[in-house]
Order: sequence, then C-alpha cells, then structure tokens
Amino acid sequence: MVENIQRVAQEIEAAQLTSAAELEQFRIAYIGRKGAIAALFDDLKSVAPEQRRQVGQELNQLKNRAQTRFDEAQEQLANANTGSEAENAFDFTLPPIPNTLGTRHPLSLVRAEIVRIFERIGFNVADGPEIEDDWHNFTALNFPENHPAREMQDTFFLSEDRDKLLRTHTSNVQVRLMENNQPPLRSIMPGRVYRNEAISARAHMVFQQVEGLYVNKGVSFKDLKETLYYFAKEMFGQDTKIRFRPSFFPFTEPSAEIDISCLICKGEGCNICKQSGWVEIGGAGMVDPNVLSNCGIDPEVYSGFAFGMGIERITMLRYQIRDLRLFTENDVRFLRQFKGVI
Ligand code: DAH
Repeated sequence: MVENIQRVAQEIEAAQLTSAAELEQFRIAYIGRKGAIAALFDDLKSVAPEQRRQVGQELNQLKNRAQTRFDEAQEQLANANTGSEAENAFDFTLPPIPNTLGTRHPLSLVRAEIVRIFERIGFNVADGPEIEDDWHNFTALNFPENHPAREMQDTFFLSEDRDKLLRTHTSNVQVRLMENNQPPLRSIMPGRVYRNEAISARAHMVFQQVEGLYVNKGVSFKDLKETLYYFAKEMFGQDTKIRFRPSFFPFTEPSAEIDISCLICKGEGCNICKQSGWVEIGGAGMVDPNVLSNCGIDPEVYSGFAFGMGIERITMLRYQIRDLRLFTENDVRFLRQFKGVI
C-alpha cells in the first residue's frame, strides 16, 4: 500500500500538464471518483487498524497534492490564453505583409514632366484662382458679351449675376500675368478647370489644362510652332509629328488647333484617332492685340503666342489609357501600374 502511494505520488509529480487535454486526463486518472487516489482510499479498509490513521493521512496529503498540481496547471493554461481568440490564433512566424509604398498619380507625373520640358527652354510656372470673375475668364480674353463663343464653354456660374464662376480654362492666368507684369513674359500655367459636361470616357466636368504664354518684341507664329514641336518630341518621342489646323478662339488671331501624329497606330488609322492618323492635344495662336491692350500691354510694341492643352488627353496618349474616368476612380490596380515612373 505504501509503495502504491509512493508510485502514484511520483506519477503526479512527473505528469506533464501543458494542454487542456492533458489536464483532463490527469483529473480522470488521479482526482476523479474512479481515479487512482479514490482506489487507494478504497484499499484503506485492508490496512491494519493501527496503521490506518497514518496511511489515511498520507492519502489525504496525496489527494491535496494532486488537486494543487491540477489547480496550478489549470491557472497557467488560462493565463496563456488571456488574449482574444484571434490573437491566440495569430501565427508570429508568418512573414510580414510588405509595407506598400504609394505611387504618384499619372496626371501628376505627366504634369511634372510638362513643367520640366518647358522649364528647359526658359518657361516658369504661374498659378491663378479656380474661382474666377467674368473679366478674367471671358471679357479680357476678347469674348464679347452675349457672344456665342461663351456658350462653347459650359460654365458653372457661382452667382446670379454670372460674375463669379468656376474657371472654364487656364487662360484666366494669362490675363492675370499680363495685368501684373510687363514683357518679356514666358510662363506655363497648369491647373484644374471646370465645365458643366456629362462625364464619359472622353469628357469630365473637372479636368486639367496647361496654358502657355510667351510675350516679347517680335514673337512670331514660327516661335509658336517650334516651341510646340519641341514639346511634342520631348513628350511623345522624337518621331512624333505635329500639325496645325486653322481654328477660332476669341483670344488669338490667327488661331489653330494642334494635332500630333497618333502614337498608337503610328499614323495609319485606328479607333483612337478615328482613322485619321492624328489626335488633337489643344489649341494655340498669336495673342489677339485686343487681349494685350485689355491687359495693359502695348500691341504696337509687343506680340505673343499662347497655347492651351489638356493634361488628361496628353496622359491618355502617353500611356495609352482609353477611359478618362480611370483617373478619378482610384482603383489601385490602375494606379499601381505607374509605380517607379518618375
Ligand atoms: N482656352 C482654350 C480652351 O480651353 C484653349 C486655348 C486655345 C488656350 C488657344 C490658349 C490658346 O491659350 O491660345 O479650349
């Protein structure tokens, strides 16, 4: 009997109690009603009466020791599990999720590149307000009152008298520049413009333009052509061709629309260039003498050229993007493709 008690005591000390299953096994084997200790208590009857007291005490100690071991192990196990279930399920050996870097938006990339290209030939960058008055957006630019040319640009007006509006083009910055500075002036003016148009693959109500202005003595149409030819080659590649189509803008005379040879079909005709081999990137012309004098510059002394191009359009051609709406949807699958582009 004494030997049995010793054996069970050793087993209790040696038992490994690190999981709930081991703990339960231990409880059944030693503490439970059918366990080893209960069996030893049953055997107490067979012990000689004079030893019974002594053996009974030892058995009680054994029982207490088993209970203590069980309680301690149970507490330890509970402490190890104090986190939420999700925390306990977390595998700390997993490799980390990479910290993904953001990318610059394609429109920002192209705008920065346009600025770099023009800075190389001496243009600086000017800025102006997006909330504008009638004078700077229309009247100073030679749009006569009630002239249908105003209807060409679906304006968002901000006041009943139509004097406050969201600028419909970046040409307002030309006016502000000429009003506040005397020539020579050589600036580009990138910025957001607004038009009340239905959103589609080719049009948006908010988009970006870049305006260019060069005013000096003796500026000619040849300077305009050379400048835009240089730009097109730098932006789209040395093989790019450029052509000027006669057009009308109230603020330039003569006026032209600027096309570049289609980069997608190399001029052979495709659905992007509508089979013509050419795509329009903006308008240009010689600054109308009326505009110069409206802004306090003497047209007898100075002449100038101006141009305005759509940044979305240039970006679409540069990266062969077929739907303008991708620029504002912020789908990371689209944006990620511009990773690492400087
Ligand atoms: N402001 C014109 C537009 O938004 C673009 C433009 C055409 C700007 C000719 C110019 C220019 O400076 O000379 O449609």
